[in-house]
Amino acid sequence: MAGEPVNVNEFQELAREALPKMYYDFYAGGAEDQYTLKDNVEAFKRITIRPRILVDVSRIGMSTTVLGYNISAPIMIAPTGLHKLAHPEGEAATARAAAASKTIMILSTGSSCTMEEVASSCNAVRFFQLYVYKRRDIAAALVHRAEKNGHKALVLTVDAPRLGRREADIKNKMMVPGLKNLEGLLSIEVDSRFKPRSFFSKATMDASLCWKDVEWLRSLTNMPILIKGILTREDAIKAAEIGVAGIVVSNHGARQLDYSPATITVLEEVVHAVGGKIPVLFDGGVRRGTDVFKALALGAQAVLIGRPVVFGLAAKGEHGVKRVIQMLKDELELAMALSGCPSVKDITRSHVRTERERL
Ligand code: FNR
Repeated sequence: MAGEPVNVNEFQELAREALPKMYYDFYAGGAEDQYTLKDNVEAFKRITIRPRILVDVSRIGMSTTVLGYNISAPIMIAPTGLHKLAHPEGEAATARAAAASKTIMILSTGSSCTMEEVASSCNAVRFFQLYVYKRRDIAAALVHRAEKNGHKALVLTVDAPRLGRREADIKNKMMVPGLKNLEGLLSIEVDSRFKPRSFFSKATMDASLCWKDVEWLRSLTNMPILIKGILTREDAIKAAEIGVAGIVVSNHGARQLDYSPATITVLEEVVHAVGGKIPVLFDGGVRRGTDVFKALALGAQAVLIGRPVVFGLAAKGEHGVKRVIQMLKDELELAMALSGCPSVKDITRSHVRTERERL
């Protein structure tokens, strides 16, 4: 691609050029027919913005708080694994970009830098994303280390009792390099350069994880717990009832269950069900500042971005991640100005029209 990228999608093109096909496919791909992968992005296009005019928008304030932490804009970094496949500095570079952008990074269990390396490389506010393996002592050890390393919250991912079927990875015979947080913990070898995807196999993932286990997790830590991977009102109500600190509406970037709904189409259902009792975060398909605007209008407190961060990292390292976040912030600021919303709390349900309302 010629010239500097002017939007997040152009960063995806740069990443495609920079990465070996196997790694690009790993980051970009989704499950099976990739219906949900496409619809996560397309569904945003079916929502229009209802701008209000003659509002004083000479000053726009994008800052907000998540679990009491101030961030410069309602845009956070989603947990994605294996950043060293994108760039040799891996998650350490991503975390420095998070700190420079004054946002929160959620570090994946499957990171390619250890959480200690990430913690010592920056002063970003970090949450830790947890996968629970059959060997519960591993989860307990990870939670303990996450707390010791200054993570401010635990994000329990609940949409992956088994690994989704990502056909590009199967075709490419994708292997995962060592998962540094798990070194010496899983019985399979995870410390050599390339090993099969067994860390995520039926043998290792705990498919018996259920609601009562949130209590067990609570007994392990003082960190607030968020549940990531909620798509229905039924589960949103349960999460609010058991009193978790927040939820993330997510379909795992469409990498798990194909034909699960595009996340933006279920956000409002979940927000209504929760009834303001706990904060609702959102991810899936956010590629424009206007997408952030739409998610906020439908009730999200903030959005997480997954692939755009990895594409920024692959294309231009730490600088690329900063650019991606800044582009989304610039676009959001402009959308707010052009819609008559001087602050994020001015963005309301009446500022968007969904597909259903247009019928
Ligand atoms: C993910 N995601 C993810 N989620 C999680 O809870 N733990 C993880 O380790 C990962 N790993 C991961 C790797 C890659 C390459 C991708 C693309 C995604 C899902 C992620 O947190 C988030 O839900 C989606 O990426 C959001 O969608 P977008 O922004 O990528 O469209």
